Amino acid sequence: PRPIIIDTDPGQDDAVALLLALAAPEELEILGITVVAGNVPLPLTVRNTLKICELAGKPEIPVYAGCARPMMRRSVTAEQVHGKTGLDGPDLPEPVMRVRPGHGVDFMVDTLMAAHDASVTLCMLGPLTNLGMALVKEPAIVTKIREVVLMGGAWMEVGNVTPASEFNIHVDPHAAHNVFASGVPITVMPLDVTHKALTTRERVARFRALGTPVGTAVADLLGFFERFDEAKYGTDGAPLHDPCVIAWLLRPDLFQGRRVAVEIETGSERTMGMTVVDWWGVSGQPANALVINQIDSDGFFDLLTTRLASL
Ligand code: BDR
Ligand code: CA
Repeated sequence: PRPIIIDTDPGQDDAVALLLALAAPEELEILGITVVAGNVPLPLTVRNTLKICELAGKPEIPVYAGCARPMMRRSVTAEQVHGKTGLDGPDLPEPVMRVRPGHGVDFMVDTLMAAHDASVTLCMLGPLTNLGMALVKEPAIVTKIREVVLMGGAWMEVGNVTPASEFNIHVDPHAAHNVFASGVPITVMPLDVTHKALTTRERVARFRALGTPVGTAVADLLGFFERFDEAKYGTDGAPLHDPCVIAWLLRPDLFQGRRVAVEIETGSERTMGMTVVDWWGVSGQPANALVINQIDSDGFFDLLTTRLASL
């Protein structure tokens, strides 16, 4: 299996992404999960991560708490989308498993430095603070990373937290800049693709029809999550952002995109955290990322439903 570290800020869509990864032991070896402040403050994102590992029946997965705030800016959270706990919807029991001692950034650096060159894939589901900090602490990790796959940013769909910026990049644009300027191979799942992965009523009903604790919990998570986006965008269902990252590792054939140059805006308050995507190659800058903008959404939800059935 392909060794991965997942970095996350659950978040209902993070939770579904974690469940998908936990349901793919033949393809993915989860070396550990590092948690970051994002959708809600760090103590809650840590607790939510532990809850999801236990829901999946995998309390042995190492979970580390990472950074509690962005590198330079004040914290921004998204309770309006995810609820007060970050995981509103189902009634999941208080976790019994514990977070591991040590800092998430140290776990990332130590694990990467002990790995073979170009071997570990980093799956980034929240603000990029932990990886941004790891790159500052030990720049040599770049050679150890096979690929960074991240949910963040936008090209034509532009912004969901400010008119110009997507939440994960907006929260810590300086960390995002470190990642995009680092030279690591990057695959980006921006709003352009995640806005095509909608949790329609029919798709949510298929999770519920699994009749398992995981199926019921996912249906309850998505039932809560969609209230916000349905009201806001008038769509049937909400975009299932973060699971696109894990689905890319399992079924890259479900996606299409283009290799382009991406830069992060850190200088202007109005467009802070904008991903400036050179889709038409007008800048002359070399490509630093594969930006995905197309998805076979039926295939994606089939993958999710069949995999989650195995938990
Ligand atoms: C991203 O922001 C968070 O609210 C979601 O979990 C996702 O990672 C979407 O902009
Ligand atoms: Ca997230």
